[in-house]
Amino acid sequence: MHRITQMLATIVAASFVLQAQATRPPPKAGAAENAEPVTIFASPVEVKAGKAVARTECARCHGLDGVSVQEGVPNLASQHADYIYKELQEYKDGTRTHTRMRQSLRKLNDEALRQVAAYYFSLDLPTPPGAERTSAQGAGNDDAGMEDMTPAEAGKMASAGCASCHGQDGNSALPGMPSLAGQNLLYLANAMKAYREAGRKDSMMRPAVALLNDDTIENLALYYALQPPKASPTSPTGDAAKGQPLTKPCAECHGEDGNSPKPDTPSLAGQDSRYLATATLAYKNGTRDHSAMQSVVASLSDSDINDIAAYYASQTPKAGDARKPLTTAQWAERCDRCHGIDGNSIDPQIPSISSQREDYLVKAMTAYRERERGNTIMRAMLKPIKDIEIQNLAAHYAGKRRKAVVFVRMPCPK
Ligand code: HEC
Ligand code: HEC
Ligand code: HEC
Ligand code: HEC
Repeated sequence: MHRITQMLATIVAASFVLQAQATRPPPKAGAAENAEPVTIFASPVEVKAGKAVARTECARCHGLDGVSVQEGVPNLASQHADYIYKELQEYKDGTRTHTRMRQSLRKLNDEALRQVAAYYFSLDLPTPPGAERTSAQGAGNDDAGMEDMTPAEAGKMASAGCASCHGQDGNSALPGMPSLAGQNLLYLANAMKAYREAGRKDSMMRPAVALLNDDTIENLALYYALQPPKASPTSPTGDAAKGQPLTKPCAECHGEDGNSPKPDTPSLAGQDSRYLATATLAYKNGTRDHSAMQSVVASLSDSDINDIAAYYASQTPKAGDARKPLTTAQWAERCDRCHGIDGNSIDPQIPSISSQREDYLVKAMTAYRERERGNTIMRAMLKPIKDIEIQNLAAHYAGKRRKAVVFVRMPCPK
């Protein structure tokens, strides 16, 4: 009895759907477009033939048990046979490029490819040790207790060295020092890059950002952009009432009240007045480069500049344009719509990603993002994703249990 159940399980597990070719009667004229896929169940003989192929051609990289032992090589055990077969064809015809994979497929005919796909699908993928920890702490789907580091949190960590000048949360209390809290996201990132590339000169900022990579700069910008801005506590030297009418030409870019609606233009509301005046002067005498700014401030006198600075400093700063990025759990919710519950896909054409090697998941996601691996859906999905989010998602799915039976049945309505 037990053996029969086992055999049945193997057969069912190894079932896979193919566009019917030889197994179907020739379609009637005009019926070709709506040809239904037909389920073909692999026989034990075919699975065994697949195992023989795997032993000689694939095992040294993918393992005979479908568990990879090499970095960058994916696990294949219990991966959908249709998906494996589709990828093998794509390696063979060069749609998906990988020299080693292409070489090992050269000798194999279509039947061998289908058999080896069925064989790997029939195998169970053992639960990785990491998954025990995940399910023990987070009780299955719920990741709330063990949040990964988000880009904003990474930015907060990187901001430790900035606090002495810009304040703990980006609200500076020092005269002459800009606040960063609630500033527009793109502007913050561009400003840091300008100091790093020496397009914008400042002896304090240059060393602070000289060694930062783009990712860290973007994380820092996000952290500061998300902090609630406070008006500077310093007292202005100019006259805000005199300054206001002079700001007419500035409103188009910086907003009536100094809260800029443009992502690449800084908000001025609530900023320290001494900093605003110094920055405006820097444009006027050409030490800070920006043609639009330079022409609009060219005719302002020193006292105009102080009055304008006092006006903007007295305005209430509003939160900028940054939106909180998705958490890993929120990302995963989107991925699960196609890849199945916890990455256990129920669509034979869509790969399961649960229990996959973490390094391979990182590699695959990065390849889609960088357009090295072609797939419109995945590219669109991953276009805006950050490295740190890729790492979080890879760890998330690598730690999920692969389930041999992934068909979750909805009970029929009465
Ligand atoms: C020399 C090592 C090597 C051999 C031999 C090899 N592979 Fe691979 N295989 C890889 C690597 C590396 C990748 C990942 C390539 C990439 O990132 O596109 C891969 C990817 C794959 C994928 C894509 C999986 C996915 O999740 O997208 C499939 C399917 C696959 N191999 C099946 C096979 C089969 C079947 C054989 C035997 C006929 C085989 N491979 C032989 C190294 C190998
Ligand atoms: C030693 C003090 C000091 C430290 C440390 C420092 N900054 Fe600055 N920062 C300044 C000063 C001064 C300016 C204004 C320079 C100028 O006039 O261009 C500035 C300007 C900036 C600006 C541009 C603000 C604007 O409104 O244009 C950004 C963004 C910034 N800093 C980010 C950072 C970050 C991020 C760090 C930490 C990695 C950091 N700073 C560390 C002193 C400092
Ligand atoms: C055409 C759009 C435009 C107009 C009009 C404009 N600005 Fe700007 N302003 C910008 C942009 C863009 C920047 C950022 C430039 C850079 O990266 O250095 C900027 C930067 C500034 C800064 C530096 C802020 C900081 O955080 O470092 C001050 C101060 C400023 N503008 C004041 C003014 C004043 C005062 C007026 C009106 C007299 C004005 N701007 C008119 C686009 C404009
Ligand atoms: C709209 C459906 C859809 C969504 C949503 C989706 N995927 Fe995919 N994914 C696919 C398809 C289809 C493939 C196979 C593409 C191919 O052949 O290269 C794929 C492939 C992958 C692969 C490669 C697997 C392998 O074995 O090589 C990874 C990793 C992946 N997706 C991760 C994700 C993550 C993480 C998310 C969420 C951020 C996500 N996907 C969202 C449909 C989707």
